[in-house]
Amino acid sequence: MKVLVTGASGNVGSLVVRTLSERKVAVRGVVRREKSAAALRARDLPGVEVVVADLADEKAVPALLDGIDAVFLATGNTADQLTQEQQVIRAAAAAGVRRLVKLSVGGASPDAPLTLARVHYAAEQELASSGLAYTVLRPAFFMDNLLQYVPWIDSSGQLPLPTGDGAMAMIHAQDIADVAAVELTSELTGNRDLALTGPEALTIGQALHRVGQVVGRQLSHVDSTREEFLRRYIEAGATPEYAEDIATLYDGILRPGYGAAITDTVEKTTGSSPRSIDDFARDHAADFSPTGATGS
Ligand SMILES: NC(=O)c1ccc[n+]([C@@H]2O[C@H](COP(=O)([O-])OP(=O)(O)OC[C@H]3O[C@@H](n4cnc5c(N)ncnc54)[C@H](OP(=O)(O)O)[C@@H]3O)[C@@H](O)[C@H]2O)c1
Repeated sequence: MKVLVTGASGNVGSLVVRTLSERKVAVRGVVRREKSAAALRARDLPGVEVVVADLADEKAVPALLDGIDAVFLATGNTADQLTQEQQVIRAAAAAGVRRLVKLSVGGASPDAPLTLARVHYAAEQELASSGLAYTVLRPAFFMDNLLQYVPWIDSSGQLPLPTGDGAMAMIHAQDIADVAAVELTSELTGNRDLALTGPEALTIGQALHRVGQVVGRQLSHVDSTREEFLRRYIEAGATPEYAEDIATLYDGILRPGYGAAITDTVEKTTGSSPRSIDDFARDHAADFSPTGATGS
């Protein structure tokens, strides 16, 4: 079988590519930038073909489905995210693939407070009316999100984020990839909707403390305001619209604890317990060195 993996250089897609390759499943990985394609090709993963395409380009997408049996659909939170997802869903339905596994979010609804959750809802509507068999993945906050904030950690090891004491059931991206690999390659019937979490709910402070213990660096959280976060996130390159969304996620959803519920879906699907924050720290110890992160 052969699987189309979009977002193949992203947090989750890159791990789906590697996981499928290790399981001897052929992959066509799609990225947008030549630089990402070159980095993926340099990994020389067995059975992995790398293609550069713009998923928002209606003419480019159908050819990506040639010879494909299943699709992993992950797209970044960009202004054309819905168009990208719609193009892939339509092309996959036209090609008659066996299953499409879509990376979505919890709380997707037409009146969600987050733009990204409304976009995912609209893409899910497209999927539901496509005639495809599908799995929707709804992961909790990625542990991997912490990597982008390593440059924000000051010399005393403090990281400011507007999440207060809100606990979140954070998940290692590899567990999302492992679930995706099962869904893509198993003989499943019907549509599935899977809420995915890590093994425990942690505040950012608790997570940083545990990471620090593993990597040998004292790390802690200091609460910040929505305004401080917006200023720094936009300075770091986010668009004002996306920064507003993430500020609302942190300050309005995660701070009051709405991201804390744990599920057993990872273990039920893969047969293995989800990875802990300590596992995550061991996997990314070099990224947490004071000289800076390599993660996205
Ligand atoms: N972070 C979280 O805590 C969290 C939680 C739940 C759900 N999610 C969802 O997870 C998704 C993001 O997943 P991720 O973090 O794995 O992605 P990511 O790291 O943001 O990567 C985005 C990927 O999309 C590719 N891409 C961007 N524009 C493209 C285009 N026009 N055509 C083709 N490819 C394009 C990028 O390729 P290049 O490298 O070439 O640019 C990259 O491979 C979002 O939909 C988000 O809502 C995130």
